[in-house]
Amino acid sequence: MKPTANIADLRLRAQRRLPRAVFDFVDGGAQDEATLLDNRRQFQRIALVTRVLRDVSHRDQSITLLGETLASPLIVAPTGMAGLVRRNGEAMLARAAAEADIGCCLSMMSACSIEDVKRASHRPFWFQIYLLRDRGINRALMERAWAVGCRVLVLTVDTKQQGLRERDLRNGFTVPPRVTLRNVLDVARRPGWLADVAFGRRITFANLAGKLIGADDIVSVARLAAEQYDPAMSWDAIEWCKRHWEGAVAVKGILTADDARAAVARSADALIVSNHGGRQLDGTPASIAALPAVVDAVKGAAEIVLDSGIRRGGDVLKALALGARACMAGRPFLYGLAADGEAGVREAISILRSEIDLGLTLMGVNSVGALDRSSLAWPSRKPVILKSRDS
Ligand code: FNR
Repeated sequence: MKPTANIADLRLRAQRRLPRAVFDFVDGGAQDEATLLDNRRQFQRIALVTRVLRDVSHRDQSITLLGETLASPLIVAPTGMAGLVRRNGEAMLARAAAEADIGCCLSMMSACSIEDVKRASHRPFWFQIYLLRDRGINRALMERAWAVGCRVLVLTVDTKQQGLRERDLRNGFTVPPRVTLRNVLDVARRPGWLADVAFGRRITFANLAGKLIGADDIVSVARLAAEQYDPAMSWDAIEWCKRHWEGAVAVKGILTADDARAAVARSADALIVSNHGGRQLDGTPASIAALPAVVDAVKGAAEIVLDSGIRRGGDVLKALALGARACMAGRPFLYGLAADGEAGVREAISILRSEIDLGLTLMGVNSVGALDRSSLAWPSRKPVILKSRDS
């Protein structure tokens, strides 16, 4: 096997290990995947400014975010059903993040329960919810998360309905799943995955199984949870979270200055500028392109995290220079998880961390706190020619 140099290599290893339907579920975006691609393209249009002949023998990439100190400006994004990538996937993600002293956010749609993840990780993690029509379910989950030490609640607001992911439709990765000969043969060619995930204890949405009436297996929970997404959810959702959660509330899925101001007016503590990794509405702007207007609108009244499209340490530096405090990433860590379990997640973290350090050194900057817009030339005026897709 070729050595792993970067996140794109981890992606290829993930592709070799996962059945096609599972790989596409992780890797894919909505419809034409234009936003998925643009999340990368817009990063590549931003140039980093290098300042030479400065002493960079000491470099610091640690940050503080919502009162916590992180060794690097990285947070593992909430990804539902990471347990389909590896058994106990969410526990592995949380443990690797805790060991590296970076942030981690658990999705309420996880395959490991909140309590299992707590047992795996010595570091407090964040907890992400979708607000359901039956808010009693949310309340119960929030109480469980609080009881195990979660202090940051992430409210995802871009999912009133799931985006149209056409790779999943084609692969029969739907509710209920469509079992075809191609699926069966494909899975049979992935014995490592089969032995780990498909055999043994059934995988389900551990936090929700048995909580939605008539739902305990993965298919019925997925169907009922999708019916529970609330299209009537409005701005009072943030106030509702603030009323029922004593810790910080971060709103995930903000892309415009107006929405940022509205969220801050409802006392959101943090905003996560995100297009859900291009998995919701295809055609929305790249998160990195939306970031400057949000930063300018918020004027420091809430902390800002950039999410979607991070594949390189340099991307993190660009987001921080534009005013984000930290970055969330989803697929990079899932690729690592698929490639080599917890060791693969550690590898993904280590790749991003070394690239951040290398970037600081070559830019002539001692700490991520010293980055600002003068660290960037943006947008670059030359046309960008993409030689290959590295997302
Ligand atoms: C996600 N994402 C997501 N977001 C969320 O708020 N709750 C969730 O349950 C999920 N589930 C989920 C599953 C999978 C397989 C992926 C890939 C993503 C979105 C995630 O939190 C994050 O916004 C994106 O992954 C960021 O884009 P990148 O880093 O993957 O490009």
